[in-house]
Amino acid sequence: MPSIKIKNISKSYVSSDGEDVLALKNIDLEIRDGEFVCIVGPSGCGKSTLLEIVAGLQKQTAGEVLLDDVPVNGTSRDIGVVFQDAALFPWRTVKKNILFGMETAGISRKEQEEKLEKYLQLMNLKGFENKYPAQLSGGMRQRAGIARTLIMEPKVTLMDEPFSAVDHLTRCTLQEELIRLRQQEKKTVLFVTHDINEAVYLADRVILLSARPSVVQEEYVIDAPFPRSRSDDYLVQLVARIVADISRGAEKTSEVEYMI
Ligand SMILES: Nc1ncnc2c1ncn2[C@@H]1O[C@H](COP(=O)(O)OP(=O)(O)OP(=O)(O)O)[C@@H](O)[C@H]1O
Ligand SMILES: [Mg+2]
Repeated sequence: MPSIKIKNISKSYVSSDGEDVLALKNIDLEIRDGEFVCIVGPSGCGKSTLLEIVAGLQKQTAGEVLLDDVPVNGTSRDIGVVFQDAALFPWRTVKKNILFGMETAGISRKEQEEKLEKYLQLMNLKGFENKYPAQLSGGMRQRAGIARTLIMEPKVTLMDEPFSAVDHLTRCTLQEELIRLRQQEKKTVLFVTHDINEAVYLADRVILLSARPSVVQEEYVIDAPFPRSRSDDYLVQLVARIVADISRGAEKTSEVEYMI
């Protein structure tokens, strides 16, 4: 059963010179329960906009988003979001940061402590719970940010380039952790990245959005079991194919602009 249905979503913005900019055009997508879907596409095509609409953080111009067949109208505890920068509260310890949402939701201390233990383990943060964000590495801060979202046990998790602010090695470690996590927890995830290697390494399915006005240009099912190898021929060829499709999409856009 699809847990997220994105139905005919369009979004236009008014630019600073007063013109309508069509960012997303008639986007139709379904993400099944437990599926991990990556969205890729050229910079500025509307990936973040689409994620924010699904999160209920922005209103679409047309169309609707359904979570388990219920329309999304604003933010909800069922939808967790992780952004590029974990943006932890610097004056709170790791533990207090992770528990922030649960405290606000008035969840009992006992349940908070039990869940905290589980998510500290899952995100490899055991022993760091009493540290402050400034005492952590960038990768650890990002893991704490992910734990803060996951501890609320949302039905779906949306991630917008969550690993783009960390160095390459940390990024690889975080990718491994995300794979381990989803094998254990089978979470539904919608993940935005501009890194095609990352998308192909993590996802069950990759959606390519075209340049603006953005439509679903292509869809790729990643038919490779976990654990995957980054140098696997099938994955390497798939990356090359997606990169070629992005360039083809960009050529088409410039032809259209030229014709206008
Ligand atoms: N608040 C806003 N007001 C006006 N235009 C906006 C606004 N937010 C985004 N846009 C425009 O909408 C388009 C899509 O932006 P968006 O941030 O969703 O792209 P993106 O695919 O996430 O880009 P990137 O890969 O660089 O993160 C861009 O052209 C952007 O300039
Ligand atoms: Mg973006």
